[in-house]
Amino acid sequence: KYPFFPFVKSPRCFHVFPILYFTSYQDVFVVEVTVWMSFDGFSFFFLFFFFTSRQKSEVGRPGSKVTQAEDVMHLAVVACGNRLDETLNMVKSALLFSIKKIKFHIFAEENLAEQFEKGFSQWPQTVSSRFHYSIYPITFSVGNADEWKKLFKPCAAQRLFLPVILKDVDSLLYVDTDVLFLRPMDDIWKFLKAFNSTQLAAMAPEHEIPKIGWYSRFARHPFYGVTGVNSGVMLMNLTRIRSTLFRNSMIASGLSWENLLHPLYQKYKNHITWGDQDLLNIIFHYNPECLYIFPCQWNYRPDHCMYGSNCKAAEEEGVSILHGNRGVYHDEKQPTFRVVYDAIREYPFEENLFQSLFYPLQTKFLDTVNTLCGRIPQVFLRQIEKTMRAVYEKKVVRRVRLPRE
Ligand SMILES: *[C@@H]1O[C@H](CO)[C@@H](O)[C@H](O)[C@H]1NC(C)=O
Ligand SMILES: *[C@@H]1O[C@H](CO)[C@@H](O)[C@H](O)[C@H]1NC(C)=O
Repeated sequence: KYPFFPFVKSPRCFHVFPILYFTSYQDVFVVEVTVWMSFDGFSFFFLFFFFTSRQKSEVGRPGSKVTQAEDVMHLAVVACGNRLDETLNMVKSALLFSIKKIKFHIFAEENLAEQFEKGFSQWPQTVSSRFHYSIYPITFSVGNADEWKKLFKPCAAQRLFLPVILKDVDSLLYVDTDVLFLRPMDDIWKFLKAFNSTQLAAMAPEHEIPKIGWYSRFARHPFYGVTGVNSGVMLMNLTRIRSTLFRNSMIASGLSWENLLHPLYQKYKNHITWGDQDLLNIIFHYNPECLYIFPCQWNYRPDHCMYGSNCKAAEEEGVSILHGNRGVYHDEKQPTFRVVYDAIREYPFEENLFQSLFYPLQTKFLDTVNTLCGRIPQVFLRQIEKTMRAVYEKKVVRRVRLPRE
């Protein structure tokens, strides 16, 4: 009846035809709306323009705050009793080879705090400019503090509370005091980015061979996987830990990390031997999809060589992180571990790494080749040599480039 718009000839007839189109020019986003109206045979049209500026992405721009925050790695350790020197040596090994800056979170008994400060103040300026640290007292936010302190060894349970205490920290590497880095901490830090959407922590297996593993033979409580996990080197995405509800054997609806710890401890305290590590094994037994497993060379212990070599990856690549548990840095039971510990302790900062660290280490290693762990020297030496070469080359390149900058 009505011919097609805009030739409408009927009274009391009213048409609106909005026409929309979008365009963008550089960073400006344009929305144009044309409204064509016809009324009683008259036609009008209106044009409306909207301009919006496209939001510029902050991510990945050099110098922005976002990237700077990500460039710092966080490392936590809990030191009590006579662990001062061991902890300083761990920190030293992390600083010798790492690339990005490190923030150390040191939880220590009151009388140790001052000694840490004194230790750090004696290090050269070139080293102290590459890290920050905070020293915290030992605190337990839930349950009976004395009871937590007695669990396993003094203060070990502290690390279970890191997600609750370090609320501003997104991710963290926790290590025992008897750990030594033989390659940049940056390399283990990269595993955080390899997590899938459910993983929130990473550890290495407690053992490679179930037949001789401790958990598979003796544990009287649930544990992760076939051999359990060792908690001496543990990577954590604290943000995820804080926001996850964990399945458990007590409450069907799941519990947050903070609310899980105390009931879990109450339930299992008479069945656990290795304290906090056992509690972590129980948690990840019920939540296996939350755990990322990294290979044994990232947490290499006497167990990997004293019954014969059973960490195959370390034979090929060398040890990345050495974990001298059972006190082997301080006695004569496993001289290979002690040789590495002493070489790092005696290395004077700023001296040539090959001359003052690697060659002495290699020489002392010759005396250990007839011990169980010294039989395959490349397990201990291959990675550290590679690391030093990389550090050395980086320094040379920096020196060569300096005049042009
Ligand atoms: C940790 O997890 C949170 C939440 O999934 C994520 O936003 C953050 O990037 C993760 N941190 C790292 C270092 O991957
Ligand atoms: C993440 O990996 C773990 C371990 O391989 C697995 O159990 C879990 O189902 C994975 N999660 C997703 C969302 O794929």
